[in-house]
Amino acid sequence: MSRSAHPAGPRHADVLTEGHYTAPAADLNVLDEKVWSRTVSRDADGALTVGGIGVARLAEEFGTPAYFLDESDFRARCRAWADAFGPGADVFYAGKAFLSRAVVRWLKEEGLNLDVCSGGELATALDAGMPAERIAFHGNNKTVAEIERAVEAGVGRIVLDSFQEIVRVAHIAQQRGVRQRVQIRVTVGVEAHTHEFIATAHEDQKFGIALAGGQAAEAVRRALTLDGLELIGIHSHIGSQIFDMAGFEVSARRVVQLLAEVRDEHGVELPEIDLGGGLGIAYTSEDDPREPHEIAKALSDIVTRECEAANLNTPRISVEPGRAIVGPTAFTLYEVGTIKPLEGLRTYVSVDGGMSDNIRTALYDAEYSVALVSRTSDAEPMLVRVVGKHCESGDIVVKDAFLPADLAPGDLIAVPATGAYCRSMASNYNHALRPPVVAVRDGGARVIVRRETEEDLLRLDVG
Ligand code: LLP
Repeated sequence: MSRSAHPAGPRHADVLTEGHYTAPAADLNVLDEKVWSRTVSRDADGALTVGGIGVARLAEEFGTPAYFLDESDFRARCRAWADAFGPGADVFYAGKAFLSRAVVRWLKEEGLNLDVCSGGELATALDAGMPAERIAFHGNNKTVAEIERAVEAGVGRIVLDSFQEIVRVAHIAQQRGVRQRVQIRVTVGVEAHTHEFIATAHEDQKFGIALAGGQAAEAVRRALTLDGLELIGIHSHIGSQIFDMAGFEVSARRVVQLLAEVRDEHGVELPEIDLGGGLGIAYTSEDDPREPHEIAKALSDIVTRECEAANLNTPRISVEPGRAIVGPTAFTLYEVGTIKPLEGLRTYVSVDGGMSDNIRTALYDAEYSVALVSRTSDAEPMLVRVVGKHCESGDIVVKDAFLPADLAPGDLIAVPATGAYCRSMASNYNHALRPPVVAVRDGGARVIVRRETEEDLLRLDVG
C-alpha cells in the first residue's frame, strides 16, 4: 500500500504520548489538494464543492453513501498521461480500477487505450464503443469463451499468462483464420515495496511466466512457432501503489535482456514492451506520487539506455495505469450516524456505508483521509475511527484520523481518493445496496452507475 501502509499513528499526529495522539498541527478545515480531486474546494459557507456543486445538494439529489467522480479531473489525468508518453508510446487505462460505459467513452475521447481482464470488462468496453484494436485482454485464467470473444472482436492484444494459454489462444485464432497479436507476461523476480496481496512480480505467485530458469524464453520459443499468434512483445506488471521507480528499473532491464536473448536466438526484434501499471497515488498528505511526465521520462530513459547497451532498437513502450488516473478523481460521501466516544481510546464514528463500498482498509490495511465537508468547524480535533454499518468489527473505513469534536449525526463527511478499487470491489455484504457513481462536471452532475435497489437484490434471488 502507500508507504504509510502500516501506520505508526494517525495522519497529522505529531507524537504519541501515553496512548493518546496529540492534536494535529494542520487545520482540519483545510482540504489538502494532494488527496482531493482538482475541482474540489470549500464555498463561502465552508461546504465542500466539486465541479461547482455543493455536497448538500449532491447528498439531497443522489443520497449517501455515494461516489462523486470529478469528470474534468479524470479527463485531465488521461491527457496528462497521453501527453507525457507522447505518440511514440501507448497508455492503456486499467479498467479493473473502475470501469463504466461513461468512463470508456471518456477514454476513447481522450485518446487512451483500455486494458480489460474479464469478459464483463470486455463487454462493457465494446458496448461503449471502444475500438477493439485499442483493447488489451489480460488475466491468468481467461476462459475459452472469453478468449473466443476477444479474438472474434479483434482485440489489439491478448496478454498470454501461461504455457497452456499460448496453445489455447493460438488454436482459437487459427480456427478463425486470424493471427492474434499477443504479448507474453513475464515475472521478473522483483519484490515491489507494496502490500503482499498486490505485488505481482516475485516468482511465487499466480501471474505470468518466470524469466528465471529460462521459462519466459521457452514461452517465446513456443509462441513464435504457432501460426495463430503474432508475438508483438513482452509484458511485465510488478504490483500496485508503488512510489519507488527502482522496481520498474529492474523490470525494464530484465525485459530488455529477454528481448536481446530473443534477437540472438531467433533473429527477431520484438517491437513492444509493456511495463504495466502500479503507480502510487496520495491517499494521505504523507504520500508523494510522481507526475506522469516524470514517470514517462524515467521509464523511457531506462528502456533507451538498456537497449543501447544491448544494441537493440528501442521498442515501443506501453503502460497501464489504473489507480493513478481514476483514484484521485473521486471521493465517497457519507452521512454520519452513531457517534460513540470510548473513554481513553478514540471516538467511533459510524457512517451509512463501510466495507461494502470500500474493502481496501480491511483487506490491505490501506490508509485514507477524511474530512467534515458539510460545514467547517472551529471545535477541537478529536481522534476518530470511521467505521461502517456492517456486522463485523473489521468494518473500518478510516482507521485513525481527526475530525472536529462537535461532529454530530447528520453531518456529511467525505473520504477522498476512492476512485480506484472501491466501487469496482464493492460487495452486497449484509445485503448492502452498492452506491451510485455520480459524475460531476462544470456545475452539472449525472449518475453514471446508479444506486442498487432492493428490487435489484430480489431480482437475482430467484426464490
Ligand atoms: N496492469 C495489470 C496487468 C494489472 O494487473 C494491474 C492491476 C494494472 C495494470 C493496474 O494497476 P494500478 O495502476 O491500478 O495500480 N485491488 C488492489 C489493486 C489490485 C491491482 C491489480 N492489478 C487495490 O485496491 O489496491
